[in-house]
Amino acid sequence: MNERQDVTFTVNGDERVIRVEPRRTLADALREDCGLTGTHLGCEHGVCGACTVLVDDTPVRSCLMFAVQAEGTRVRTVEGLAAGDKLHPLQQAFWDHHGLQCGFCTPGFLMLAVSILERDPDIAESELRAALSSNLCRCTGYQNILKSVLAAAAEMRK
Ligand code: FES
Ligand code: FES
Repeated sequence: MNERQDVTFTVNGDERVIRVEPRRTLADALREDCGLTGTHLGCEHGVCGACTVLVDDTPVRSCLMFAVQAEGTRVRTVEGLAAGDKLHPLQQAFWDHHGLQCGFCTPGFLMLAVSILERDPDIAESELRAALSSNLCRCTGYQNILKSVLAAAAEMRK
Protein backbone atom coordinates (compact mmCIF):
# COMPACT_ATOMS: atom_id res chain seq x y z
CA MET A 1 0.00 0.00 0.00
CA ASN A 2 1.62 3.21 -1.14
CA GLU A 3 -1.02 5.70 -0.14
CA ARG A 4 0.62 8.86 1.01
CA GLN A 5 0.10 9.95 4.58
CA ASP A 6 0.42 13.24 6.41
CA VAL A 7 3.16 13.46 9.02
CA THR A 8 3.05 16.33 11.50
CA PHE A 9 6.19 16.91 13.51
CA THR A 10 8.57 19.66 14.51
CA VAL A 11 11.95 20.03 12.87
CA ASN A 12 14.42 22.33 14.57
CA GLY A 13 11.51 23.98 16.38
CA ASP A 14 9.34 24.58 13.30
CA GLU A 15 6.10 22.68 12.88
CA ARG A 16 6.02 20.79 9.58
CA VAL A 17 3.36 18.82 7.82
CA ILE A 18 4.61 16.64 4.99
CA ARG A 19 2.82 14.07 2.85
CA VAL A 20 4.84 10.93 2.26
CA GLU A 21 4.58 7.33 1.19
CA PRO A 22 4.81 4.98 4.19
CA ARG A 23 8.08 3.57 2.83
CA ARG A 24 9.82 6.96 2.76
CA THR A 25 12.69 7.13 5.22
CA LEU A 26 13.05 9.98 7.66
CA ALA A 27 16.38 10.82 6.01
CA ASP A 28 14.77 11.22 2.59
CA ALA A 29 11.86 13.17 4.09
CA LEU A 30 14.22 15.59 5.82
CA ARG A 31 16.36 16.05 2.73
CA GLU A 32 13.71 16.06 0.03
CA ASP A 33 10.45 17.10 1.68
CA CYS A 34 11.89 19.54 4.22
CA GLY A 35 14.84 20.77 2.12
CA LEU A 36 17.31 20.03 4.94
CA THR A 37 20.21 18.47 3.08
CA GLY A 38 22.65 18.80 5.99
CA THR A 39 21.70 15.25 7.00
CA HIS A 40 23.90 13.03 4.86
CA LEU A 41 23.31 9.56 3.53
CA GLY A 42 26.28 7.22 3.37
CA CYS A 43 25.56 3.52 3.61
CA GLU A 44 21.75 3.75 3.81
CA HIS A 45 21.59 0.62 5.94
CA GLY A 46 22.36 1.70 9.46
CA VAL A 47 26.13 1.21 9.58
CA CYS A 48 27.88 4.55 9.08
CA GLY A 49 25.86 6.99 11.20
CA ALA A 50 26.20 9.85 8.69
CA CYS A 51 22.41 10.24 8.77
CA THR A 52 22.17 10.62 12.57
CA VAL A 53 19.53 13.08 13.77
CA LEU A 54 17.86 13.50 17.14
CA VAL A 55 14.27 12.38 17.62
CA ASP A 56 12.96 13.57 20.97
CA ASP A 57 16.62 14.06 21.93
CA THR A 58 17.60 10.47 21.14
CA PRO A 59 20.07 9.87 18.30
CA VAL A 60 18.59 7.78 15.51
CA ARG A 61 19.83 6.62 12.14
CA SER A 62 17.36 8.40 9.94
CA CYS A 63 17.99 5.98 7.06
CA LEU A 64 16.46 3.23 9.22
CA MET A 65 13.42 5.12 10.44
CA PHE A 66 10.32 5.75 8.38
CA ALA A 67 9.12 9.33 8.22
CA VAL A 68 5.65 8.21 9.36
CA GLN A 69 7.23 7.00 12.60
CA ALA A 70 8.23 10.59 13.33
CA GLU A 71 4.58 11.63 13.71
CA GLY A 72 4.26 13.88 16.76
CA THR A 73 7.98 13.92 17.53
CA ARG A 74 10.56 16.67 17.85
CA VAL A 75 13.34 16.20 15.33
CA ARG A 76 16.64 18.06 15.44
CA THR A 77 19.11 18.17 12.58
CA VAL A 78 22.48 19.78 12.05
CA GLU A 79 20.77 22.86 10.58
CA GLY A 80 19.30 23.58 14.01
CA LEU A 81 22.60 23.69 15.90
CA ALA A 82 23.87 27.21 15.25
CA ALA A 83 22.06 30.18 16.72
CA GLY A 84 22.12 32.60 13.80
CA ASP A 85 25.77 33.39 13.12
CA LYS A 86 26.91 31.82 16.36
CA LEU A 87 28.09 28.27 15.97
CA HIS A 88 27.13 25.65 18.54
CA PRO A 89 30.12 24.90 20.83
CA LEU A 90 30.52 21.54 19.09
CA GLN A 91 30.62 23.13 15.64
CA GLN A 92 33.14 25.68 16.89
CA ALA A 93 35.26 22.95 18.46
CA PHE A 94 35.24 20.87 15.25
CA TRP A 95 36.43 23.99 13.45
CA ASP A 96 39.10 24.85 16.03
CA HIS A 97 40.46 21.32 16.45
CA HIS A 98 40.25 20.14 12.84
CA GLY A 99 37.58 17.55 13.60
CA LEU A 100 36.75 17.15 9.94
CA GLN A 101 38.42 16.72 6.61
CA CYS A 102 35.95 15.97 3.81
CA GLY A 103 33.09 16.71 6.24
CA PHE A 104 30.75 14.05 4.91
CA CYS A 105 30.45 12.31 8.26
CA THR A 106 30.40 15.55 10.25
CA PRO A 107 26.64 16.22 10.58
CA GLY A 108 26.18 12.72 11.98
CA PHE A 109 29.08 13.11 14.41
CA LEU A 110 27.80 16.50 15.54
CA MET A 111 24.30 15.21 16.26
CA LEU A 112 25.63 12.11 18.01
CA ALA A 113 27.97 14.27 20.10
CA VAL A 114 25.20 16.73 20.97
CA SER A 115 23.10 13.92 22.38
CA ILE A 116 26.05 12.51 24.34
CA LEU A 117 27.06 15.86 25.87
CA GLU A 118 23.50 16.96 26.62
CA ARG A 119 23.07 13.74 28.55
CA ASP A 120 26.47 13.78 30.26
CA PRO A 121 28.88 16.68 29.73
CA ASP A 122 31.23 15.00 32.24
CA ILE A 123 31.50 11.80 30.23
CA ALA A 124 34.84 10.02 30.68
CA GLU A 125 37.16 10.03 27.69
CA SER A 126 37.10 6.23 27.44
CA GLU A 127 33.30 6.19 27.31
CA LEU A 128 33.25 9.01 24.79
CA ARG A 129 35.70 7.11 22.61
CA ALA A 130 33.41 4.06 22.69
CA ALA A 131 30.28 6.14 22.00
CA LEU A 132 31.85 7.92 19.03
CA SER A 133 33.00 4.62 17.54
CA SER A 134 29.41 3.96 16.48
CA ASN A 135 29.84 6.41 13.59
CA LEU A 136 32.29 5.95 10.74
CA CYS A 137 34.78 8.50 9.48
CA ARG A 138 37.10 7.62 6.62
CA CYS A 139 39.31 10.71 6.86
CA THR A 140 40.29 11.88 10.30
CA GLY A 141 41.52 8.86 12.22
CA TYR A 142 39.05 9.97 14.93
CA GLN A 143 41.67 11.64 17.13
CA ASN A 144 40.65 15.17 16.20
CA ILE A 145 36.97 14.32 16.47
CA LEU A 146 37.60 13.11 20.01
CA LYS A 147 39.66 16.21 20.77
CA SER A 148 36.87 18.42 19.41
CA VAL A 149 34.14 16.78 21.45
CA LEU A 150 36.27 16.96 24.62
CA ALA A 151 36.88 20.67 23.98
CA ALA A 152 33.16 21.27 23.42
CA ALA A 153 32.35 19.36 26.62
CA ALA A 154 34.66 21.67 28.58
CA GLU A 155 32.95 24.68 26.97
CA MET A 156 29.44 23.35 27.65
CA ARG A 157 30.28 22.67 31.32
CA LYS A 158 31.05 26.37 31.86
FE1 FES B 1 22.25 5.86 7.75
FE2 FES B 1 24.69 5.10 7.03
S1 FES B 1 23.31 6.37 5.96
S2 FES B 1 23.67 4.72 8.91
FE1 FES C 1 35.64 12.65 5.76
FE2 FES C 1 34.79 11.99 8.18
S1 FES C 1 35.77 13.83 7.56
S2 FES C 1 34.49 10.91 6.36
